[in-house]
Amino acid sequence: MGNGYKKINMNILCIGDIVGKPGRRALEGLLAGIKKEYQIDFVIANAENAAGGSGLSERIAKQFFRLGCDILTMGDHIWDQKDLEEYLDKEDRLIRPANFPEGSPGRGWSIKESASGVKVGVINLLGRVFMKYQILCPFLELEKIVQQIRKETSIIVVDMHAETTSEKIAIGYFSDGKISAIVGTHTHIQTADEKILPQGTAYITDLGMTGPYDSVIGQEKERIIRRYLTSMPVKFSVAKENSQVHGVVIDVNEKTGRARKIRRIQKSFKEE
Ligand SMILES: [Fe+2]
Ligand SMILES: [Fe+2]
Repeated sequence: MGNGYKKINMNILCIGDIVGKPGRRALEGLLAGIKKEYQIDFVIANAENAAGGSGLSERIAKQFFRLGCDILTMGDHIWDQKDLEEYLDKEDRLIRPANFPEGSPGRGWSIKESASGVKVGVINLLGRVFMKYQILCPFLELEKIVQQIRKETSIIVVDMHAETTSEKIAIGYFSDGKISAIVGTHTHIQTADEKILPQGTAYITDLGMTGPYDSVIGQEKERIIRRYLTSMPVKFSVAKENSQVHGVVIDVNEKTGRARKIRRIQKSFKEE
């Protein structure tokens, strides 16, 4: 802090699903400013839609790390880009949903240090309601992994990637007091229910999206409307207009791991 007082709170930025090139451009243009404005110590971003709207590539993941992301989380689009499987085994700052069966490439949680040397554990989970995968119970996996991480740090953030509000709210209350924060991703629409739960865990049902907002959750709206009208398959295409960065800033006590405050952010990006 520079004034001789030891800072005991850290600010963790969680960023909603980065979608395609418009999302990457918005992050590139805005992340440094957001980090400065909110005095961010640690950045967690969901990157499951970063490559052409579906999946992530090694090249793009490396770009996000260069921009200042500390941990990247994923979701149901985890297997959309073939080259990621090998990279998942190599890069421990990139995590996939932890409740995939054993034998899946990569890891479901990771512990990394902030610039000031504070350890942050991050877990990625996938919901089971309306998801196409046969996966393990996210509630029980969360409990098991939290026990592991707690041996090293009490600062733990979970990205719960799920479709329904009810599954996310339920796991939020289930994890209250066990972790610092649990944030929802996947719907690409930010919810206005951010709060600190009774036992000190920060919660939001969905972070929103980092990508083009004049769209249907990131995709060109005309094509999606045509699909609803005709029930015929259409080729999706990432929209371009009105790219924004959505997420939350969580203020966590470094000693106890409890959250003090959660703030939603929405920032618009204008190409020069
Ligand atoms: Fe998703
Ligand atoms: Fe997504």
